[in-house]
Amino acid sequence: MKTKQYLEQLLNQMTLEEKIGQLIQLNGNMFSETKAEITGPARKFGITEEELTRIGNVLNFDDAAHMISIQKKHLEEDRNQIPLLFMMDVIHGFRTLYPIPLAMGASFSPKLMEACCEMAAKEAAAAGVHVTFAPMVDYVRDARWGRVMETCGEDPFLNGIMGAAQVKGFQGDDLTAPDRVATCVKHLAGYGGAEAGRDYNTVELSERLLREFYFPADKACIDAGVKMLMPSFNSLNGVPSTANKWLMKDVLADEWGFDGVVISDYNAIEELVVHGIAPDFRTAAKMCFACGCHIGMMSNAYFETLQALVEDGEIPMEAVDEAVMKVLSLKNDLGLFDDPYHGVSVQREAAVTMTPANRDLARRAAEECAVLLKNTGILPLSENTRKVALIGPFATSQAIRGNWACHGENADCVSVADGVRAILGEERVLTAKGCTCYLEDLSTEGFDEAIRVAKEADVVVLCLGEEQDYSGESHSRVDLGLPGVQLELARAVVAANPNAVALLFNGRPLVLTQLEPLVPAILDMWFPGCEGGNAAANLLFGRTNPSGKVTMSFPKASGQCPIYYNHPSTGRPKATPDDVFQNCASNYLDCGNLPLYSFGHGLSYSNFVYESLELDTPTLTKDSAITVNVTVYNDSTVDGQEVVQLYMRDLVASSVRPIQSLIGFEKVALAAGERKTVSFTITEPMLRFYDFACNYISEAGEFTVSTGYADHLLLTQKFTLQ
Ligand code: GLC
Repeated sequence: MKTKQYLEQLLNQMTLEEKIGQLIQLNGNMFSETKAEITGPARKFGITEEELTRIGNVLNFDDAAHMISIQKKHLEEDRNQIPLLFMMDVIHGFRTLYPIPLAMGASFSPKLMEACCEMAAKEAAAAGVHVTFAPMVDYVRDARWGRVMETCGEDPFLNGIMGAAQVKGFQGDDLTAPDRVATCVKHLAGYGGAEAGRDYNTVELSERLLREFYFPADKACIDAGVKMLMPSFNSLNGVPSTANKWLMKDVLADEWGFDGVVISDYNAIEELVVHGIAPDFRTAAKMCFACGCHIGMMSNAYFETLQALVEDGEIPMEAVDEAVMKVLSLKNDLGLFDDPYHGVSVQREAAVTMTPANRDLARRAAEECAVLLKNTGILPLSENTRKVALIGPFATSQAIRGNWACHGENADCVSVADGVRAILGEERVLTAKGCTCYLEDLSTEGFDEAIRVAKEADVVVLCLGEEQDYSGESHSRVDLGLPGVQLELARAVVAANPNAVALLFNGRPLVLTQLEPLVPAILDMWFPGCEGGNAAANLLFGRTNPSGKVTMSFPKASGQCPIYYNHPSTGRPKATPDDVFQNCASNYLDCGNLPLYSFGHGLSYSNFVYESLELDTPTLTKDSAITVNVTVYNDSTVDGQEVVQLYMRDLVASSVRPIQSLIGFEKVALAAGERKTVSFTITEPMLRFYDFACNYISEAGEFTVSTGYADHLLLTQKFTLQ
């Protein structure tokens, strides 16, 4: 790595145009003709070859050969020999895709998350990626929002742990290593709180709510050493995040002390004009730069107006120098001034990409993320089953990689049919598509074949879900049911053969209220990535025991959204939250208050009995700690894993508190018949919250601590904070 003096000397020799070039990121296909995708609204840049040589950052490109050719051409022309910084969205794998983040959260295993990110970094770095636009840690309570698939759900504590695990997994301890990439936490702030769950929509959140639920995961990533941060597109309490001084200066820079690089989202600077917060690009650029947005991603505004703003004295040169120094420092942290190629070679890329070990990890991750939502005992299926019918749009589909698939392909994915055939052989597996998973396709012409196949089989696996690109950016839905005529297909198939289970592929919690009564078991695979079919087969036949837990509430009806477990009591809670209408209580005429499946819910083939929850003392002071021991017994003949969860409630406080808050979890392996005691520690800082004036305090009083899962607490004890 170079010294700070080297960088300062480099900065001093740069012209203003060259400095500004370091603050701009353009698509890889602008540097050479390739198929590199343009995300977001593609914009025609009027840029000359000469101007291009000054640009410092690249978004999206094809592969190692492409990166090498762009970097080489750039260094031949760049007077200052400043290497380009290559960035891409490596969200749940680069080429070997593991489950989407919403699924990875369901594993409740930071260790697994870290291992998968490490594998993704190895593949991405070998292809020339220096920075990934991950972790995405947006807090979310509304499954209508398509980007829930990129998050770890509705709990800030879990989101923070999973975000930090991603930073560690991608970055490791030495960014100059050829198998590591820098990370960029996104999107600050409140993006997941878009009104009505509609992507990019207005966000109005109190400071208290932001600080209690939306900020913790971003802060956890900053504390974990994330190198870059991306503000969100949305307006936050009236001002778009990218130009929101309170957010970007008072909180991010001054309060949190973030000193990394801030990069705008795609086109977000110009969009201030569309928001109606700036009359023109020049004003938009000035506002965002003043709020500490260092790099403009595909930004005409920075490209066209920064130079004039500096020459007219509206942006001080010192501010430009400070921003450029941050970009140069990040390039230096990656060792790019010593090796602009960061160890990339076509040979290395081939050697580390899509290896058997990578696929094996992807499969184990898919197994560990799956959630057994319902099982009356029909699962696991016997491997001696004479004939199994896989019926539905996902029976033979390879379109299970998930959205934000980076360079992952459908063709890389193992289908359910291939996975089950690997266990049962060809002749015992029947398949029928029955219908598609598209919103507008109401054709039932495939039903007859599906019914015929169902009758011929001993067991049916209904392979249902939503099309993988129905979640992800700009893919919100108002009706969270199974798209198309899948529910009708399920009814017809179950009528033909009631021995049917459901296997789901989804990027968000779906409304399963009509499906649930039809089948004795539901196994949710989410979008499991390239090994999904093998993982599904291993879980269906019990070669692996499901252990995932829901991290985002499954609504009973779309009209319940936003719905989440960590909500306050209200002054009129329903006595029994899920029964019929109760006059003058906070409830609906036509639906219960509880989700169909709550945060933390997930079944196993084992039977875990929670025997005791004990405190070593019922009193806590500011300087002491309480040890909580939870004893769990695997009362079955099947080895398994259980996520032991610990929830807290502050019974009386000066602002309303959630009826439950996750404060700890531990995933433990329990062999058949084994008993384990899991210990947690409670200290006063864990009880702090934001009062009405946003003071971060704890208050003396009574608390409860419980185990089980949200809305279904099993054991509870009280303690007092003095
Ligand atoms: C997109 C997304 C952002 C992503 C960026 C680059 O619009 O909002 O998450 O990192 O553009 O692809």
